[in-house]
Amino acid sequence: MTDSLTAFAAEKLDQLETRSLRRRLVPTDRLDGLWVERGGRRLLSFSCNDYLNLSHHPAVKAAAMAAVERYGAGAGASRLVTGDHPVFGELEARLAALKGKQAACVFGSGYLANAGIIPTVMGPGDLILADELAHACIWSGAQLSGATVLAFRHNDMADLAQKLAAQRGAAARCLIATDGVFSMDGDLAPLDAVSSLARANDAWLLVDDAHGLGVVGPGGAGAGSVYPTAHIDLSMGTFSKALGGYGAYVCASAPVIDLIKTRARTFVYTTGLPPANAAAALAALDVIADDPDLVAGPLANARRFTRALNLPEATSAVVPIMIGEADRALAVAQVLESAGFLAVAIRPPTVPAGTARLRLAFTAGHTARDIDGLMSAIVGLVP
Ligand SMILES: Cc1ncc(COP(=O)(O)O)c(C=O)c1O
Repeated sequence: MTDSLTAFAAEKLDQLETRSLRRRLVPTDRLDGLWVERGGRRLLSFSCNDYLNLSHHPAVKAAAMAAVERYGAGAGASRLVTGDHPVFGELEARLAALKGKQAACVFGSGYLANAGIIPTVMGPGDLILADELAHACIWSGAQLSGATVLAFRHNDMADLAQKLAAQRGAAARCLIATDGVFSMDGDLAPLDAVSSLARANDAWLLVDDAHGLGVVGPGGAGAGSVYPTAHIDLSMGTFSKALGGYGAYVCASAPVIDLIKTRARTFVYTTGLPPANAAAALAALDVIADDPDLVAGPLANARRFTRALNLPEATSAVVPIMIGEADRALAVAQVLESAGFLAVAIRPPTVPAGTARLRLAFTAGHTARDIDGLMSAIVGLVP
């Protein structure tokens, strides 16, 4: 006999399957920063966030391996207990300097970072305004905080201004939260305008720059560096995209970071990131600092693609190809896979209903031939 939980799950899955929204894991062997093996076939990936192919960079791997030898495979405990290996302090100092802030805090992941930072500084009686396309973990953090949470229309400063005018007065504190580079659309938030509105309305600004670090701005310093006049109170990002590893950070003033290290539940009540991940991130930051040509690669490659296909010019490594319905997006991705390209379909609820897409991620390692090959395979498949 089927128990009620199992029956519930099976029915939910059936409903999702009918709408082409069920998700399945596909074992994937990433052979290097570009090629993957799936089902015994080699595919050229345009779906990894490994924009600089650093996940397989010899110096990054060597740093991780040396750290495993020295510190072991895991942190051993929360960083507030015995897990604060010296490599974390080194990485935090490095990140704070990069972002021009007094201090930084490293988290286990980007999701944990936003889920912990936002409830640390916001609570009931406060107001959070987030871009409607902000990453899921910003929404999770906002909901966990107990503050009033409102979405403003994507990159629409008039809508943000109107919502601030209507709602700011009633709230004790106010936080504006946005991605720096939007993960599924690849466009940048107009951080200068967002920051001006934040300052004019006594609001704090959190920017999640997971997809900006290592790719946009001078030296790959991130979306904030594209808008040098923007004042970002909480400058958050991850090691999981261009840095090729895992983990995340937030940079801010020293008291804010001390408060986060004292109170953020996803920092206090969780085991520290394995120290090898921090060592890998440090090595990746070295590569980024030493190799401006590598850093320029993803955007140049994305632009080669958008220019050739007459798409809006890429502003980051991410280029969406809008398809519409989920089943059609899955079918297009399948055709591309048969042609040797991995371009995974992104479906709701990751993106709004009716905007299923291929989300292409260009990396420094893609050659002109790779990009032209993808173009030939895509032309004719999409509207
Ligand atoms: C904008 C953005 N923020 C945060 C995250 C979460 O980071 P992590 O994968 O380290 O949890 C992601 C993607 O995963 C992202 O795209």
